[in-house]
Amino acid sequence: MMVLTDPALRGLALDGYLASAGHGLRAALRDPGAIIPVIEASGLRGLGGAGFPAHRKWAAVAAAPGPGRWIIANGNEDEPGTFKDRFLLAETPHQVIEGALVAAVAVRAAQVALYVNPRDAATVAGLRDAAAQWAAHPLLAAVSAAVGEAVTLRVVESSGLYIGGEETAAVAAVQGGFPFPSLKPPFPAQHGVHGAPTLVTNVETLAQAGHILEKGADWYRGLGIGDAAGTKLFSLSGDVLRPGLHELPMGTSLRSLVFDHGGGMLGGRGFKAVFTGGPSNTLLTERDLDVAMDFDSLRARGSRLGTGAMIVVGEGTSILRKTAEYVAFFAASSCGQCPPCKVGTFQVARLLERLEAGSGGPGDLEALRNLAALLPGSGRCGLVDGAATVLASSLATFPAEYQRALR
Ligand code: NAI
Repeated sequence: MMVLTDPALRGLALDGYLASAGHGLRAALRDPGAIIPVIEASGLRGLGGAGFPAHRKWAAVAAAPGPGRWIIANGNEDEPGTFKDRFLLAETPHQVIEGALVAAVAVRAAQVALYVNPRDAATVAGLRDAAAQWAAHPLLAAVSAAVGEAVTLRVVESSGLYIGGEETAAVAAVQGGFPFPSLKPPFPAQHGVHGAPTLVTNVETLAQAGHILEKGADWYRGLGIGDAAGTKLFSLSGDVLRPGLHELPMGTSLRSLVFDHGGGMLGGRGFKAVFTGGPSNTLLTERDLDVAMDFDSLRARGSRLGTGAMIVVGEGTSILRKTAEYVAFFAASSCGQCPPCKVGTFQVARLLERLEAGSGGPGDLEALRNLAALLPGSGRCGLVDGAATVLASSLATFPAEYQRALR
């Protein structure tokens, strides 16, 4: 199942890309009013992690009053275990730009920021080159005519910080400031870059848009399994034989991802758990192997699809160790604006580290349980919630590991 990862779309200059692709943007230009209804009928959801219905966000931006509209194609991607957006930006930047231009026509935005994590200089250079090719192409002039003013594509390098991918932080960064998240509402759809309506969307969501406009909503829906629509890029890592990026129908089972596409467990080890959607989430275990990996099925299971990162843990790997590592990452990534997040994630990391080192006491476990209950909802963005969720899930699912650490 290859839509976004089709080898025929990789590594092409714009002329080569437009020789076989770009039909979605051309269709969008023929009938701009049909874009959002087609996106709605397709069932496209926000693939950065939240799964918010794409058409609702696009329609909110289109309906918000005010000039100077922006699109931010969010490619900051720094969730541990997630490596899909860097693939798209490095291998098929034109696919992302085409989607961003479809969105620009839909919401009448003339400013398009390709917001990229600067970790890979070659990707940034390639994206700049791709944007320059579009700037010189007649198709961009047609987009400008549809939008009603000259469309500008600019590459904006993010700080590379985890927090910079949060959408209000991305808005702050595009304005030239430090990527501090701010409270929502107002959503960027109403109050984004310099106060103008702004569509902040993950690059995977945008990359799907051209294909949907080209091949139609029914085709896209039909790619998914059951009620789930389209395809999803899964970043598979951990104790599996074939880690890597797997584009699969939305709704593929966890079992199929791990054992068919991932080749099964490394060294024949037993399957223990998976950090689902990135390590800011509820762990899945063996009894969840047949769950369909889509936004609604995982939510019904008390978990979340998130970015589609699946970090597989085999028997013999310590969940306590992994949890301590991830919470330490969140603690180091807190921007420090909200005291419960700054102090709470640090405190959890310290307690986990102590338990892991064998010098914890029963009071530490109690403190961890209290923090897991108290911290959610105490920050202006989701960082502290992620740390608390993985902590609570790890405590509840693998209590024996914590008890063992006390002995
Ligand atoms: P959210 O649920 O607050 O919002 C989702 C999107 O819907 C946002 O763009 C928001 O502006 C929009 N939205 C919601 N209500 C709206 C309304 N009434 N009108 C207009 N727009 C509206 O979630 P958030 O904080 O943006 O994303 C959380 C997800 O991000 C998590 O599920 C996590 O999986 C993922 N994530 C991804 C990372 C990565 O590296 N890609 C890193 C960390 C988290």
